[in-house]
Amino acid sequence: AIYKKNPIKQIYSDATEFYQHILLTTKLGEVALKYVQERELTSEIISHFKIGYAPKADNILYIFLKQKNYSQDLLEQSGLFIKNEKGKLLDRFRDRLMFPLCDELGDPIAFSGRRISNDSQIAKYVNSPETPLFTKSKLLYHFSEAKHAVNAENHLILYEGYMDVIAAYKCGIKTGVASMGTSLTSQQVYMLRRVTPNIIINYDGDDPGQHAMERAIKLFNYPNINLGIVSLPEHLDPDEYVKKYGPEKYVNEVKAAITSTEFLLQRMSKKYNLFNDRDKLDFINESIALIAKNDDPIEIDIYIQKLAQKLQVSVESLKARLLREQRKIRTAINHQKQIQALYPTDEVTPKQLDNVHSSSVSFTE
Ligand code: CTP
Ligand code: MN
Ligand code: MN
Ligand code: MN
Ligand code: MN
Repeated sequence: AIYKKNPIKQIYSDATEFYQHILLTTKLGEVALKYVQERELTSEIISHFKIGYAPKADNILYIFLKQKNYSQDLLEQSGLFIKNEKGKLLDRFRDRLMFPLCDELGDPIAFSGRRISNDSQIAKYVNSPETPLFTKSKLLYHFSEAKHAVNAENHLILYEGYMDVIAAYKCGIKTGVASMGTSLTSQQVYMLRRVTPNIIINYDGDDPGQHAMERAIKLFNYPNINLGIVSLPEHLDPDEYVKKYGPEKYVNEVKAAITSTEFLLQRMSKKYNLFNDRDKLDFINESIALIAKNDDPIEIDIYIQKLAQKLQVSVESLKARLLREQRKIRTAINHQKQIQALYPTDEVTPKQLDNVHSSSVSFTE
């Protein structure tokens, strides 16, 4: 057969249509349609995100694709099937709500299937295996669509999950993408940076999500990147927040995104008992070390003022401490440069510098 596009892509696009057809028009799809309604997914959402349903059947997709004359070889390569002991191909996805994962052109190249029961014994999401077309670490959910919407909204918003991107879309935010979990990769960061320097991160409000934002901030440590952080209350994820408080409140949360430094300072202060003076001093050391890394004097001013007020210490003493820290950082960078001049092959990475910056502050300078 002669295919217009990559034959595996053709398979994925046929499978996407097939699953959508099952969800929307068949008896087999009724149970999933009920789930879809519970989760408040409208038909507009289903069609934009090409959501479908893989029914509870052994090899319905296989039979469908066989009819379309795909070779056995190709079907095996697609990752949509699992071979049983007898060498028969069985559908990988069964009884799951299907989210197509698309490449930068918007073509489906993999699936993620969500269980529709609340049986926690079964994996919540199952993904296609990696294929020559699909590498999980290089894909962002909804990226090609979000990219096109970026001119109107002037930023991209990074989420953990599919349902968060979809919830944002319901609120009129069309620039949401998902890293599909909390393990953001440097390749995904590169994809985002290429589109816009204005990135908002809104991972889940639970501890893993908040912790993952700290890690993500480090991955976005490039000059000119303008990060905003949205940290939702009550351990809610964006989808849960929208369901509980409605679209308007959610949009306000996004508008109220804080700087990465402010987010880190807030996280830091939670580790300390600020009524205890020793704790307070430790907190000051740690926060000054963070603020000193910033190179915008205005931003620094803002943080110092806030800190002074919060801790009931003078702006002058904080500034004195800041100067000391900045000098330390400059010295460390100069040392690194000297080392680099002596051993030019030892590249100085931002990470190495980072370690130098955060080394503990000595009081006896
Ligand atoms: N994820 C995954 N496999 C899992 C759990 C999570 O691939 N077993 C990925 C999915 O991309 C998921 C994201 O990590 O969307 C975030 O996980 P989580 O917060 O647990 O799920 P939600 O997106 O909140 O999913 P839902 O609202 O459907 O429960
Ligand atoms: Mn989560
Ligand atoms: Mn907690
Ligand atoms: Mn979540
Ligand atoms: Mn969720």
